[in-house]
Amino acid sequence: MSALGRLLTGNRVWRSIVRHGFPDSNRNRALAVFSNLFLHVHPVKVRLRAIAFSRTFFLGGLAAACFLILTITGVLLMLYYRPSVPEAYDDMKDLEFVVSSGVFLRNLHRWSAHAMVAIVFLHMVRVFFAGAYRPPREFNWVIGVVLFVTTILLSYTGYLLPWDQLAYWGVTVGANMAGATPWIGEDTRFLLLGGTEIGEPALLRFYVLHCVILPAVLVVLVAIHIWRVRKDGGIYLPPLDLSRDGGGKR
Ligand code: HEM
Repeated sequence: MSALGRLLTGNRVWRSIVRHGFPDSNRNRALAVFSNLFLHVHPVKVRLRAIAFSRTFFLGGLAAACFLILTITGVLLMLYYRPSVPEAYDDMKDLEFVVSSGVFLRNLHRWSAHAMVAIVFLHMVRVFFAGAYRPPREFNWVIGVVLFVTTILLSYTGYLLPWDQLAYWGVTVGANMAGATPWIGEDTRFLLLGGTEIGEPALLRFYVLHCVILPAVLVVLVAIHIWRVRKDGGIYLPPLDLSRDGGGKR
């Protein structure tokens, strides 16, 4: 190790944070994974077949990446947006014409949202065709279904926020569809809109759902989801076909 390296890592502050030695041995490499909050999502050893692109198309990770982009851009958009009827639409126009890079910020948020819905759906299809919903992973499939519904609800609640004609009538249709549910429809519609028609209370409810409640639900469920993948022994791998090419990559 260089003198600078020794200076940086050979002191008490560094050792109080990084508990393992330089990862140049199997033991230290394993400790580096165990003792790091982010890395410990992975097992210390993985099979080559499990990390091949064609196994998962990285769709789960890409869905998580979209959510990260949405959170960062969403928080930045919150600096410019006020969820009230007289201001919401004007704030969107300000983002378009006044705020520097406002259009870029808004479009990054919008396109990541579209991408997340598509990617989560494709991830679900991938998991289905791999048969990875079967025991012991059935609980994770159920969490996945809730994640899918939460993703759709995030998209839907964000739709009202620009407070333009598209938003207003789009949400009118959605709320009326909810209202058509047998027995609980009218109450659900009332609860969602905070009244009988779309106005200030509906905008505030959609804002709180979109910016606080649904993202919080998603964060907790994604944490359980990824932890569960780890506890179920990593992603599902079909048994090796040893008759072909010596079994190929293990
Ligand atoms: C916010 C949405 C979601 C995120 C961030 C997410 C994330 C992930 C990640 C990172 C993995 C491991 C790697 C991979 O398979 O790509 C995974 C696996 C899995 N996901 Fe998701 N997921 C989401 C939604 C869903 C949905 C909608 C379903 C199904 C209804 C689902 C069911 C599963 C199952 C069963 C596995 C284990 C797959 C296996 O063992 O091969 N997930 N997810």
